[in-house]
Amino acid sequence: MCKLGIAPKNKGMFSGTVISNRSVGERFYRLSIGFSDAGGEAFRGCVPGQFAQLDLSEVALPSIDKIQPELADSSKRSILLRRPFSFSDVRIEGTETIVEILYCVVGPASLRMTSLSADDNISVIGPLGNGFSMLKKKVTALLVVGGMGAGPLQHLANFLKEEQPNLKVVLIAGAKSKEEFPFDAESFCRYEIETVLATDDGSAGFKGFVTDCVLDWLGKNDLRSEDIIIYSCGPELMLRRVVEIAAEREIDCQVSMERLMACGIGLCQSCAVECKASSGETVYKLCCKDGPVFDGEKVIFKL
Ligand SMILES: Cc1cc2nc3c(=O)[nH]c(=O)nc-3n(C[C@H](O)[C@H](O)[C@H](O)COP(=O)(O)OP(=O)(O)OC[C@H]3O[C@@H](n4cnc5c(N)ncnc54)[C@H](O)[C@@H]3O)c2cc1C
Ligand code: FES
Repeated sequence: MCKLGIAPKNKGMFSGTVISNRSVGERFYRLSIGFSDAGGEAFRGCVPGQFAQLDLSEVALPSIDKIQPELADSSKRSILLRRPFSFSDVRIEGTETIVEILYCVVGPASLRMTSLSADDNISVIGPLGNGFSMLKKKVTALLVVGGMGAGPLQHLANFLKEEQPNLKVVLIAGAKSKEEFPFDAESFCRYEIETVLATDDGSAGFKGFVTDCVLDWLGKNDLRSEDIIIYSCGPELMLRRVVEIAAEREIDCQVSMERLMACGIGLCQSCAVECKASSGETVYKLCCKDGPVFDGEKVIFKL
């Protein structure tokens, strides 16, 4: 198994400059940050699925009319800890490396993020963790996305098409309804890929859960299991079902897990993921250091 791309050697704390921060839906934003010098070098080789810790403690809250009523109380909380975010894109422009984060406003830190604007400086620790790996002989990569899992798989889709042009990349993305997709299906990937949408309410594409849509797609496409790899990111219940489907069909599967993270670098043990060791025993891996991407068959899901 080989890592996608060249894992960056120089992780560290870097100051980035905000290039843009645009709203792409009711609660979704795309934040682009530029890095030069050592930061540019470090993020240049970022592997899809890796993440960074952003310091949002000094960022001001948006004006009161821009705060959703359900976040009014929590918005006042001070931001003691950095927050982890993965990248939806990493590109090189001249001497700069530009990373993009697709984020959803869910609490005080992501709310403050919406106030960032061009030329603001932001402290970022990264790139952290281990990203997706590629099994060389695969013919089809099935990217299974639930809601905000779109970010790292968007990065992965572009990366795979650039590095392995002959690999067929298929996106199967699910959300509750059409409005809940944090991306535009046509522009998810810079290259043409087969895209299948699933919505719980049937407002776009397949009506039903994204995992049923995966079963439907596998049923319609007569492929050898050993030729497929599934990459997935999204809510844990969905990941659990994706892993079950992959195991039933003996398809290789990697999942990007999320955990509450305090340090992000393996010191505080707050992000444990229960896994199966090859001996059959249970071991605790750290999402920030050993993950966030894990072999699906190794994860013991709690939900
Ligand atoms: C490796 C990794 C990559 C991530 N990438 C992205 C990304 O690309 N885009 C994005 O929008 N978000 C991403 N997240 C989630 C993001 O870090 C959290 O939403 C963040 O905590 C938001 O901070 P907040 O102060 O706005 O909300 P908080 O007050 O911190 O959280 C709001 C609510 O979400 C819950 N929550 C927060 N983080 C997690 C988590 N990791 N797992 C389960 N529940 C959680 C909290 O318990 C709380 O109920 C990622 C998380 C991890 C671990
Ligand atoms: S977040 Fe501290 S050990 Fe993982």
